[in-house]
Amino acid sequence: MNSPRTFHVKSFGCQMNVYDGERMGELMTAQGMTATDDASSADLVVLNTCHIREKATDRVYSDIGRLRKDARALGREPMIAVAGCVAQAEGAEIVRRAKVDVVVGPQAYHNLPALVAQAAAGTPALDTDMPIASKFGALPARRRVGPSAFLTVQEGCDKFCTYCVVPYTRGAEVSRPFAAIVEEARALVDAGAREITLLGQNVNGWRDADGRGLELLIAALDALPGLARIRYMTSHPNDMTQGLIDAHRDIEKLMPFLHLPVQAGSDRVLKAMNRAHTADGYLRLLDKVRASRPDIALSGDFIVGFPGETEAEFSETLKLVEAVGYAQAFSFKYSPRPGTPAADMAGAVPAEVMDERLQRLQAAINRDQAAFNAATLGRRCSVLIDRKGKLAGQMLGKSPWLQSVHLITDAAVGDLVEVDIVRADPNSLAGQERVRVAA
Ligand code: SAH
Ligand code: SF4
Ligand code: F3S
Repeated sequence: MNSPRTFHVKSFGCQMNVYDGERMGELMTAQGMTATDDASSADLVVLNTCHIREKATDRVYSDIGRLRKDARALGREPMIAVAGCVAQAEGAEIVRRAKVDVVVGPQAYHNLPALVAQAAAGTPALDTDMPIASKFGALPARRRVGPSAFLTVQEGCDKFCTYCVVPYTRGAEVSRPFAAIVEEARALVDAGAREITLLGQNVNGWRDADGRGLELLIAALDALPGLARIRYMTSHPNDMTQGLIDAHRDIEKLMPFLHLPVQAGSDRVLKAMNRAHTADGYLRLLDKVRASRPDIALSGDFIVGFPGETEAEFSETLKLVEAVGYAQAFSFKYSPRPGTPAADMAGAVPAEVMDERLQRLQAAINRDQAAFNAATLGRRCSVLIDRKGKLAGQMLGKSPWLQSVHLITDAAVGDLVEVDIVRADPNSLAGQERVRVAA
């Protein structure tokens, strides 16, 4: 196989994978390769995969098949690399089953150029090590990014929720050093970022060498000229400190949005999930957050149909949703994952019961999202323009509360515009431009 000259990276799953995909792209660009938008014409295709639910994992194999077929129709045989969490979980099994050329785990992708070279020389290459030395030190500097950029500050998870593969696919919780993060943030701003979202599986568990928390990092980013907005995700209730809660009151660039998954409303289910918090503890925590930042938009994740979940227990989830009034939330049917404790638990919930619970939960979440959007009608707020809309002169962007806003404006991508919200729909808002905020 020849050494690839063009590449295409396709990322699935969470924002951390999106970040990793960007960094792999930068790494290969630094090797002299050229990115292409079209997977079927690339010499090298990197599938950056997600293992969180069964469907996500199955998808990898069907994607590999489709990719080969599309490429063959063009008379091509691309090199295929599987990266991300399926690579970590299944390792050599992927090479056996799908005959791919490279398998590389989420903590090893700084070695991608060497693995690609090995594959080009004719030997399939596999690296799923989780080295102590961080991959970040071996990656090239950031060069060009959109107005809203991701920055991974914390990797891995030590929480071991009984349903979840992340502690196995991403390894132990590690915080990147303060100085390296601030340096990368500065590079992102120089490269065009106006908003930075700090990422981690438990991002609010980030600690520096002296034990100081995420608010320290947020304060450092607040001081960066040119950066207008700071966000972070995803957080764990048990890592939500008063210092971080206070930052929502004190730091203007920190956007009023908190993604704080709770998963379920029943304490029996939470215990079986090993979440180590109660529903009431979660609600009291949100009270503190709202006391600090009354307009904060709350988001969460939910799992329906965890083993043994009864109708009464599920109704406690609905009750919790009603009590919180989420601005948005994600909900999933429980998917048993090989090697996790919950996969061996009795009391599987029948598929049709799960379907029906998911529908009821999503209806409740949609109701609250529509109500949250309606409550922003008439407000004045900033919108960070991130892309063109479908209509002439229309641009799209995000409100401070992470809602999609469309408006007619001659502002460009990356501009911050002050708007009045003149229409609120269940999934988006319409804004009318008032003031262009100077870049
Ligand atoms: N670290 C984050 C996100 C983990 S994965 C956190 O702890 O909140 C994102 C979401 O996927 C989880 O919050 C959970 O709602 C869902 N999820 C994880 N494992 C799952 C499984 N086995 N079945 C269904 N949903 C799952
Ligand atoms: Fe998974 Fe729980 Fe860790 Fe989140 S906190 S990544 S759900 S084990
Ligand atoms: Fe998926 Fe791995 Fe993220 S399993 S959700 S890509 S951490």
